[in-house]
Amino acid sequence: MGTLRFDVLTLFPGILAGPLNESILKRAQEKGLLDVRLRNIREFAEDRHQKADDAPYGGEAGMVMKPEPVFKAVDAAKAGSPGAGFLTILLSPQGRIFTHREAERLSREERRIILLCGHYEAIDERVKEELVDEELSIGDYVLTGGELAALVVIDAAIRLVPGVLGDEESAYRDSFGDGLLDHPHYTRPAEFRGRKVPEVLLSGNHDAIWKWRRRESLKATLLKRPDLLETAELTKEDRRVLEELKKELNKHQ
Ligand code: ADE
Repeated sequence: MGTLRFDVLTLFPGILAGPLNESILKRAQEKGLLDVRLRNIREFAEDRHQKADDAPYGGEAGMVMKPEPVFKAVDAAKAGSPGAGFLTILLSPQGRIFTHREAERLSREERRIILLCGHYEAIDERVKEELVDEELSIGDYVLTGGELAALVVIDAAIRLVPGVLGDEESAYRDSFGDGLLDHPHYTRPAEFRGRKVPEVLLSGNHDAIWKWRRRESLKATLLKRPDLLETAELTKEDRRVLEELKKELNKHQ
């Protein structure tokens, strides 16, 4: 219960090994909340040279990942966890965009998640047809491979699993938990190079502090990511504050 399980199928397991062995990802594994197995697709290549890619049919530039090693690697992942259910995700720039909502969904996933990292230009279409349940992209840009995207998916999902972060609430309070950007944070000293911490944060008045933080979250979102306000969870008071902020901003223009 509460453990997130991944099999990452990749031609370059070394790209993932380092980050998985540091900080919160490492601790989550030690606590038994995260289980990641790295499998090198090349080890499932049949020929002597362990060739995992080949030229595309129809002739065009670039290489295509061969189907056989990928099918075998997926079979091995499934055989490694008999009785488990599986969700197979291909990381590629053609996928649906991975968002906080997707991270929440995966953080509750009870099946083992197979993350298939594409490389070279493309992967044989029969892999997508037969093996892949969904295709995810971490943004509208092209990476050299799906490995960094797989790490992003694991990282964003695991921090939402209860017990992974020290402070139970911090996962929710951060940006996007309620669809808004985060408010500013300060620590000691109260004055640094002439810049003071906002008075309200030193006041001990928790109600006023909460209001200030909410207002700053709304302000940051309005200024930097106004598109998020369309789907954020907003109260009547939030909407009133937003109107006030808009007026203030117009005045300064
Ligand atoms: N592989 C290459 N680019 C990618 C992206 N933007 N997201 C996921 N996987 C990728």
